[in-house]
Amino acid sequence: MPGAADVADEAPEVIEAPEVIEGVGTRRLGVAAWVPHPAMTNSTSAPLATRDNKRTALPPFSIPRAPAQDDPAQRLQSTQSARRGVSATARVMRAAPACRPDMAYDPVVSESAAGRGTQRTPMIVDCDTGIDDSLALLYAIASPDCDLVAVTCTAGNVDARQVAENTRAVLELAGRPDVEVAIGRETPLARKLVTTPETHGPRGIGYAELPLARMPLSPRFGPDLIVEEARRHPGELTLVTLAPLTNVALAVLREPELPRLLRRVVIMGGSYRSAGNTAPTTEWNVTVDPEAAEIVFEAFAGEGADLGPNGRPARPTALGLDVTERAKLLPEHMARLAALAGCEPDGSLRGGPGASGSSGVPTVNPIVRYLADALRFYMEFHSRYDHFYGAFIHDPLALAAALDPTLVRTEAVSVEVELGGRLTTGETVTDWRRVWGRPPNVDVAVEAEVDRFFERFIERVGALAAGRDPGAPPRDPRAPPRDPRAPPRDLA
Ligand code: BDR
Ligand code: CA
Repeated sequence: MPGAADVADEAPEVIEAPEVIEGVGTRRLGVAAWVPHPAMTNSTSAPLATRDNKRTALPPFSIPRAPAQDDPAQRLQSTQSARRGVSATARVMRAAPACRPDMAYDPVVSESAAGRGTQRTPMIVDCDTGIDDSLALLYAIASPDCDLVAVTCTAGNVDARQVAENTRAVLELAGRPDVEVAIGRETPLARKLVTTPETHGPRGIGYAELPLARMPLSPRFGPDLIVEEARRHPGELTLVTLAPLTNVALAVLREPELPRLLRRVVIMGGSYRSAGNTAPTTEWNVTVDPEAAEIVFEAFAGEGADLGPNGRPARPTALGLDVTERAKLLPEHMARLAALAGCEPDGSLRGGPGASGSSGVPTVNPIVRYLADALRFYMEFHSRYDHFYGAFIHDPLALAAALDPTLVRTEAVSVEVELGGRLTTGETVTDWRRVWGRPPNVDVAVEAEVDRFFERFIERVGALAAGRDPGAPPRDPRAPPRDPRAPPRDLA
C-alpha cells in the first residue's frame, strides 16, 4: 500500500473523477436535509445541464493517485514517511522546467490614486470556492495593495472542478479574466472527499447564478504552480489558503524549501481555542484533509522554523474559528456596500419573515446581485445552525490579514493535527502551555480587529461593484487597479 511519499514520487497520471460524499458525518449535512431553493430549480439564466456539460468537457489533467488507506495508524505512518521522502521528490521537481519564463509581477508600488505609494503584495490564493471564498477573491481584486498572481483550486466546499468553475466565474464577474486559475488534486490525500452543499449550496455559490466562465483553465497542476512561482520569485510571494490544505501539502512534498521560498503563508483553518464547526472540536478545512494539514504544519516545524526570507521565522499565520467567527457579516453591512455601489441589495437580505423571496428593490449591479443571492443562502444557513441572520466570513478575514498583518494579533505556538482520534480527527491540538517544549511552528491568530476589517471590506468591494455596473465596459486587465475611494460611477 503506497504512502503519501510514494504518492508524491509517482509520475502523475490521469485518474477518474473521485467519489464525493456530500456532507457525510459533519454538522453541515445530515442534520437537516438540504432543500433546494425554488430559485435554483426554476432557474432559466444558467441551466445546470449546461454546467454539467461544461464539466464533462473539461480537458483531462494529471493528478497523483490517492492511497486507499482506512487505518488511521497507517495514515499517520504514511504522513511521516512522506516527510522523510520529501528530498527525493524535491530533487525530481527541481529538474522540472519553468512554465511561464516570461512572467513578471506588477511593480510593487500601486499607481492607483488611493494606493499611490502602497506596497502591492504578490499573492497566490488556494481556495475551494465556496461563498466566503468568493468574497475573499472579490476583496483581493478590490484591494489596491494586492497583486493577485494566480488562484489554485482545491476540493472542499464543492468538488474541485466546480471550485474551478466558480472561481473563474467570480473573477470574470470582477473583471479579472487575466488571473491564472489552476485546478489541483481532486481528493484529500488519504480520505474520501466530503463536500458541504448545505453550507454553500449545491454549486457552492448559494442562490447565485453566474454565467459559465469563458476564461481558460491553466494547464498547470495547482501544486506545481505554487512551487514554480515560489522558486521563480523566492521571498516575494504570499500564499493564502482558504481551503483544505491538499494542494499545499503536495507542494511542500515536492519542494520542502517552500516555507522559506514564500514571503508569507496565511492559512484559514483550524480551531485552536474555540469550538469546531464540523465536529465538536474541528474546523472544516482541516477536517476535510487532516493529513494534508499535518504535513503543512510539520513543514514549518524543526528546520522549517528557521528564518525565512525576511529574517523572521518562516511560520505560517493561521486564522482559526477563534477569530474568523468574530467576522459576522450582517444585512446592514451589505446594505452599506450596496449603497456604495449606488444600489440597494435584494430586500430579502433584511431577514425576518418572508426573507427568502426576491422581493424588494431590484438589484441590477451584477456584483451586488451576486453577493445578495450568495449571501442570502449563507445567512439562512447561519440562521439555522448559528442562530443569527448573518454569516461568518472566514476567508475574507484571512485574506485581509495577509494583506495587512496588523489586523490580527498572533501567538507563536506548537500545533499538531489529530489524525487518529475516535472523536477528534482533524483537531488542531495546540500546546498553549508549552508542555511539549518544542519550538513553535504556527503563529495562531488570537485577536482580530473585525470592525476595521469590515470598514475595509465594505469600502473596497463596494467600490469594485460600483465600477462594474451593467453598462460598464469590461475592464482592461492591464489597467492599474481602480481607486476604491473614487465615488461610485452613478453617484459621481
Ligand atoms: C471554512 O470552511 C469553508 O466552508 C469556508 O469556505 C471556510 O474556508 C470555515 O470553516
Ligand atoms: Ca473556503
